[in-house]
Amino acid sequence: AAAEKGGYATYMEKEIFDQPQAVADTLLGRSNAAGDLQLDDLRISEEQLAAVDRVTIVACGTAAYAGMVAKYAIEHWARIPVEVSLAHEFRYCDPIADEKTLVVSISQSGETMDTLMAVKHAHDLGALTLSICNTHGSTIPRESDAVLYTHAGPEIAVASTKAFLGQITACYILGLYLAQLKGGSYADDAKQVIAELQDVPSKIADVLSDVSRVREVARFMADTRSVLFLGRHVGYPIAMEGALKLKELAYIHAEGFAAGELKHGPIALIEPGQPVFVIVPGPDTPHGLHGKVVSNIQEIRARGARTLVIAEEGDTSVDEFADEVFRIPHTSPMLQPLLTVLPLQVFALELSTAKGLDVDQPRNLAKSVTVE
Ligand code: G6P
Repeated sequence: AAAEKGGYATYMEKEIFDQPQAVADTLLGRSNAAGDLQLDDLRISEEQLAAVDRVTIVACGTAAYAGMVAKYAIEHWARIPVEVSLAHEFRYCDPIADEKTLVVSISQSGETMDTLMAVKHAHDLGALTLSICNTHGSTIPRESDAVLYTHAGPEIAVASTKAFLGQITACYILGLYLAQLKGGSYADDAKQVIAELQDVPSKIADVLSDVSRVREVARFMADTRSVLFLGRHVGYPIAMEGALKLKELAYIHAEGFAAGELKHGPIALIEPGQPVFVIVPGPDTPHGLHGKVVSNIQEIRARGARTLVIAEEGDTSVDEFADEVFRIPHTSPMLQPLLTVLPLQVFALELSTAKGLDVDQPRNLAKSVTVE
């Protein structure tokens, strides 16, 4: 088993450090020399996909947060409305779907029963079903019209890390492919992002090459009872994922919020010493979002919060209000989740380790939940 962990103490740690490869492998072979996406393994025709006028994403747990990132990306790039539904809620909300609806399931294992039942229901409604999955030959891709595999490699640790990055990458590929099929300026814009995506694996490696400060901060916080996470736009699902990781691995009460929601309730939770992670959008994010999140940091700091800030290199506007800053390289705003989640994964891993817990097999959880 030590060899399988590649010298790391746990599978989860190995899988975190496998992430540059997981993203690179998921991108590999999916674009041609001209820089256009080519999805030969999709099992669904360009005509059928080009006719899609609505996308519904179904997934559970971490995969559902990848789905939330996908909503921002697909709507922005392909201008097709996207809804995200927890797979176990999908059937019960009397979903609207027909042959122009693409129901995208996201599942690492391909065996999650809740997700499988949602796919079957979508099929019965006459929708097109596409599976984003990490496990070849598993049930969900077999029951779907189309499949887009993530190539993250086998994920052993119960808490998902590299599969999550693979899922986000596959969602980007799907969104960009839908944009490419639309042609014109959609396709031109997509092409730029496809090129930019190729640089992301080395940026992930950059972040992971120096996580010593995150580890230190996590070790100091072994007695912490509650941690909050704030993000906006694509940072919002990452805040939720950061909180989920901490619940799963360190059994700490953790909550992720959309930063704009702070003033509508959660700010009442801020008291002196409360640790709050804040994911700061890049300074070039449209609509002044960056400045709004920096104001949020200021507001909670003024109320005594201990602010743990994830921000782009060179973004000095946060320094004054941050107790800690974890840096990520510059990317276009939509691609940030592949970087901002990294310190949060390491934080949960290290805090769990500091508490002496079983990182790979947290209590009460299963890698794949095959019952409803
Ligand atoms: C379980 C795991 C989670 C995972 C979820 C969905 O609850 O503990 O880590 O995100 O299932 O799994 P899937 O295989 O469908 O991605």
